[in-house]
Amino acid sequence: MEWKTVAATALVISLGFLAIPIKVAPDTSVEDVRLFETYVSYYNKSYRHDPEEYGRKFGRFQRSLRQIERMNRLRSTQESAYYGLTEFSDLSEEEFLSLALRPDLSARGERHRNDCHRRRTHDPLPERLNRVKRLIDIPPKFDWRTKGVVTPVRAQGSCGACWAYTVVACVESMVAIKNSTLRSFSVQEMIDCAGNGNFGCNGGDICSLLSWLEDNEVPILPESDYPVTGTSGTCLVDRSKTSTVRVGDFTCDSYVDSEEELISTLVNHGPVAAAVNALTWQNYLGGIIQYHCDGAFSMLNHAVQIVGYDRSGPTPFYIVRNSWGPLFGNKGYLYIAIGKNICGIANQVAAVDVII
Ligand SMILES: *[C@@H]1O[C@H](CO)[C@@H](O)[C@H](O)[C@H]1NC(C)=O
Ligand SMILES: *[C@@H]1O[C@H](CO)[C@@H](O)[C@H](O)[C@H]1NC(C)=O
Repeated sequence: MEWKTVAATALVISLGFLAIPIKVAPDTSVEDVRLFETYVSYYNKSYRHDPEEYGRKFGRFQRSLRQIERMNRLRSTQESAYYGLTEFSDLSEEEFLSLALRPDLSARGERHRNDCHRRRTHDPLPERLNRVKRLIDIPPKFDWRTKGVVTPVRAQGSCGACWAYTVVACVESMVAIKNSTLRSFSVQEMIDCAGNGNFGCNGGDICSLLSWLEDNEVPILPESDYPVTGTSGTCLVDRSKTSTVRVGDFTCDSYVDSEEELISTLVNHGPVAAAVNALTWQNYLGGIIQYHCDGAFSMLNHAVQIVGYDRSGPTPFYIVRNSWGPLFGNKGYLYIAIGKNICGIANQVAAVDVII
């Protein structure tokens, strides 16, 4: 944590110098080398003693430094997102995509469009429909975490199963809302067992997972009965373990140009799952992301849970739970501006109902 502050300060200072148009060959920058040394030892990177890898990583690290400077220059208010060094800063864009995000992105793009972008044909629950219309009840800010229905942030590590982490997080919240008991459910069960075009740690999709869960009436096991391993494996549902918890119904909708409705669903129904483009989150430290986060449907590469929002300040934002551990961003969360489909957050949003 402290390191982040140090690094952010160092970067802000170095920004001042970089603004002076003196031509310095980027790979000889003394400041960069010094920062990299500190970075490598702070994160105890395994390539510490491997000169070849060290050199390669330094190139990637410099790319991040320039990106951080560019992104920080765009800050327009005190609340704007700020960027600095993170554990991901030594990755190329491709490495970041395959490590932290949903891999085989381009191959899956088209299928996702067909699979998931369609609106569910069955009607949303009538009661929800009525509640969605009552926009008048929407408070200026709302945070499901304060209601005790959000489990602690998880770390997906190098397993590209954001889709499973996010859906399970929503199931946990919906069980908590319905039954007043906050319990953890098994992400690994989804990683190992989900069919319907989901490929464990190699990628998947929130809406096709929900379809699989609903169509097959899959019992969702408690976390303790099928703990996380961090890799894809064979589906090993122990027959002695069972659960009454199932996905009863869900919606999977686009709220582009109707984020007001998204907020209404969030307040009146519960936390929702959303596909996003997380490419620029590699060096995110905190603040509200307002710019330079492409919202195109074809750019979606990650999934997150929206647990609340705040419209009481000058820049309204969603409160977004990530699955990159509690040290990422704001204690594992990030803030994304409301209203312009930033990071594609409104493209594909799923609301879940559970049967207990
Ligand atoms: C640093 O990483 C090495 C393995 O690469 C490990 O043996 C060592 O315990 C780590 N040190 C710290 C302080 O985490
Ligand atoms: C629902 O609540 C009851 C009473 O607290 C508890 O025994 C049960 O395990 C809960 N069910 C789930 C699925 O959490």
